[in-house]
Amino acid sequence: MEIIIAKHAGFCFGVKRATLLAFEKAADGVATSTLGPIIHSPQVVQRLEEKGVSVVNNLSQIEKGRVILRSHGVTATEMKEAHEKGLEVVDATCPFVRKAQSYVKLLSDEGYDVLVVGDRDHPEVEGIVSYAGREVVVVASVEEARSLRRMKRLGVVAQTTQSYETLEAVVEVCLAKVQELRVFNTICDATSVRQDEAKILAKQVECMIVIGGYNSANTRRLAEICLELRHNTHHVETVDQLSEEWFNNVKSVGITAGASTPKWLIDEVVERIKAFDRDKKD
Ligand code: F3S
Repeated sequence: MEIIIAKHAGFCFGVKRATLLAFEKAADGVATSTLGPIIHSPQVVQRLEEKGVSVVNNLSQIEKGRVILRSHGVTATEMKEAHEKGLEVVDATCPFVRKAQSYVKLLSDEGYDVLVVGDRDHPEVEGIVSYAGREVVVVASVEEARSLRRMKRLGVVAQTTQSYETLEAVVEVCLAKVQELRVFNTICDATSVRQDEAKILAKQVECMIVIGGYNSANTRRLAEICLELRHNTHHVETVDQLSEEWFNNVKSVGITAGASTPKWLIDEVVERIKAFDRDKKD
């Protein structure tokens, strides 16, 4: 059986950086917590917990020690509170998310109304929005953008995982509604690169395995994309969720993984599929 692993399966730059930082800090004995799960991988979070790094949901749960801020960022209020409490703050916010936060602040300081294209309930967007000193409008689709009021000066920023097509369509709608429009393209291509690869791979193989947290939106989306193209697609979080019968009469398997899936989880899955194949031959 041939096993093809997508070139960019697994950790993106920002998640890799945050995870390395967290494991590095876990080793020095200082009481350490992450504000929310550091990344959307329950298995990575569990490994960190085994090394003494706990997860808290808000800063009132930490009195002293160190707090690590997750890759998709926190709100300006949380950042301020962490410093005011005298905690050692390790900022693992992805630099691309940090950039989106800075642009929102810049636009707001320069007197623009601010529009963020993204999912208003996502913690990354809640963080980005919080850096504006004024009210920010969030739209998730071009339909929502159509109901915007007319404005004089508008600045647009996108959630890093937005699709370029949505941003482009929203900007086009805004053009007709404002006198001055300033757009920062803050989309990170890690998501689209993984999705494009998955589309190609799903068409090429007989079975697709997508690995990653069920709480990871980008992994779920990868699984949806693959399922549209390849009926024999399965989303698993861990190796033990694989079922041998998925590989019956299958000559080629494609593997991809969300941006928060560590390499060791991918390796375990690949080894188990190879073992299924060996069992069949024996
Ligand atoms: Fe950063 Fe892009 Fe990953 S914004 S956290 S590198 S998906």
